[in-house]
Amino acid sequence: MQVLVIGATRGTGRLLVDRLLADGHRVRAGTRAPGPAEGLAAAGAEPVPADLEGPDEPLRDALRGAQAVVFCAGSGSGTGPDATLRVDLHGAVRSIDLAVQVGVERYVMLSSMAADDPRRGPAAITHYLAAKHAADRILATSGLAWTSVRPGGLTHELGSDHVEVGVPRLQRRGTIPRQDVAAVLAGCLVQPATVGRAFEVLSGPVPIGAALAGLADAPAAGHR
Ligand SMILES: NC(=O)c1ccc[n+]([C@@H]2O[C@H](COP(=O)([O-])OP(=O)(O)OC[C@H]3O[C@@H](n4cnc5c(N)ncnc54)[C@H](OP(=O)(O)O)[C@@H]3O)[C@@H](O)[C@H]2O)c1
Repeated sequence: MQVLVIGATRGTGRLLVDRLLADGHRVRAGTRAPGPAEGLAAAGAEPVPADLEGPDEPLRDALRGAQAVVFCAGSGSGTGPDATLRVDLHGAVRSIDLAVQVGVERYVMLSSMAADDPRRGPAAITHYLAAKHAADRILATSGLAWTSVRPGGLTHELGSDHVEVGVPRLQRRGTIPRQDVAAVLAGCLVQPATVGRAFEVLSGPVPIGAALAGLADAPAAGHR
């Protein structure tokens, strides 16, 4: 499958690139500066410009011909609410609109725990959770085959390939290694039970493949 990863240079997106390549996919790695492109190309991906704050055309070109897109970008906790609105909300919505325009079928959003109801999260990040909430809602009504993956706090630990998922939410907070989130995102692309679902995910006892397959038995709760 030809997959575009938006936000492929660092963090979860970078790990996802390696995971998708290992799984045999063809990967376009979205970047917004030339620097990281060399390493991504050396890894076997095709670096493509995909700046969520830039003009439409490069982003449209990056999406054209892709069968799936995975949104892993984020403005980061060190930036203010303005950047959150530009990247996590407006940038995400533009990528959804452009994906629809060019006929991409599948869209997997890396969202966040508590995006179903931003009041559940810490007050300091309500603006971020509200941005994620709005982007998820727009994705859910886009007509794309969508999934929203909502992890708790991301860590740099090695993954265990074991998680706990909750639809629409888990009854606890916690953390999960970025490596496991990357495996969940890759797993969504090949597990039809994840289409049309939003779910929270933390480290837990269930192998990732079984956890995603088990979503077939969860109530279809839409974006909430
Ligand atoms: N941190 C947490 O605990 C947590 C919890 C739940 C969900 N999340 C979500 O998980 C996702 C990944 O987080 P992470 O910490 O693994 O990633 P990260 O290390 O913060 O990397 C963010 C990525 O987004 C890219 N990016 C930033 N602004 C962009 C723009 N304008 N256009 C295109 N790409 C842009 C960055 O590219 P550059 O290298 O060019 O800057 C980078 O590749 C984010 O959506 C975040 O909101 C995070």
